[in-house]
Amino acid sequence: MVVRREMGEVDPAFVQDIEHRPKLAVVEAGGIPLIDLSVLNSVHGKEEGDPRGLAGLVAEIGDACKDWGFFQVINHGVPSDLRLRVETVAKKFFALPLEEKYKVRRDEENPLGYYDTEHTKNVRDWKEVFDFMLEDPTVIPASHKPDDQQLNELRNQWPDYLPEFRGACEEYARGVEKLAFQLLELISLSLGLPGKRLNGFFKDQTSFVRLNHYPPCPSPELALGVGRHKDAGALTVLAQDDVGGLDVKHKTDGEWVRVKPIPDSYIINVGDIIQVWSNDTYESAEHRVRVNRERERFSIPFFFNPSHYVTVKPLEELVIMQNKSPKYEEYNWGKFFTTRKLSNFKKLEVENIQIYHFKKDI
Ligand code: OGA
Ligand code: NI
Repeated sequence: MVVRREMGEVDPAFVQDIEHRPKLAVVEAGGIPLIDLSVLNSVHGKEEGDPRGLAGLVAEIGDACKDWGFFQVINHGVPSDLRLRVETVAKKFFALPLEEKYKVRRDEENPLGYYDTEHTKNVRDWKEVFDFMLEDPTVIPASHKPDDQQLNELRNQWPDYLPEFRGACEEYARGVEKLAFQLLELISLSLGLPGKRLNGFFKDQTSFVRLNHYPPCPSPELALGVGRHKDAGALTVLAQDDVGGLDVKHKTDGEWVRVKPIPDSYIINVGDIIQVWSNDTYESAEHRVRVNRERERFSIPFFFNPSHYVTVKPLEELVIMQNKSPKYEEYNWGKFFTTRKLSNFKKLEVENIQIYHFKKDI
């Protein structure tokens, strides 16, 4: 195989089509908005909190969601020791021999745990991951087939040879969940809705945390850590280390912009569900992860997802307020989630499920 010889150590399964290969130059200009959440913590902590400060914050969040669909937050209230602990155990875990990691390996029955063969849009990603659900067990549909009503309980699997791993993961998840709910309320307010309008959708949440490890790559111009994609859930709260590599596509000019690592900050992005709920007021932005030849990179996204039985559709009162018609047909979150999980696991011959499949012709 000619291609394989030209690429050195990179297997063709990792190679992006020419138009999706990353250019080597990195744009870091301006960057995504940086939002200070300290107002929030004082408002919630004290009766005398400044309501104008909160209104200002809500406006900032709304602008960031409109212009970018991505922003970073500081003074977010998530204790830094939770993050430090999970980062430490993640490093320890990925440094283990493959045979140890394979003891908690994902398979067709259980999509949780370790795996190193994820595909984004049918191209293999240059990374290894460990997934766990926030709720244990989490209920989701047993299959992606529309007529199959059967449900399945997902259970986390933990490596018993790293005893501190489970506690660090679970406590981190609870810490970030709190931030995710606060952001959800801010986003709801920014849409002109009551703060808790969206909370009910998360009663039996299907949220999960992913530990990502991107090893150094011999051909960073051919492969990607994660291929370009949008996050399917409601909201993502991401911790990245100081290496950098996350690129976001800016809506207005279509340029890829590097998200600069800021210590102890979180990167927040609007997922497809908020795009649909908000009837396109906010849009989920396309993003990808670049890898590099020298340094490994770690990141930890928290994917904030609703209950499996939630019917996702533009919020009725918002559509009325906007005097528009709904731009999406409704869809069942559980089926969407199951279809995605399956297609990321195996290289499928069909196109990946996307929300534009539910877009109305109007
Ligand atoms: C993802 C993702 C970004 C990163 O896992 O969906 O976009 O920086 N990760 O790892
Ligand atoms: Ni993503």
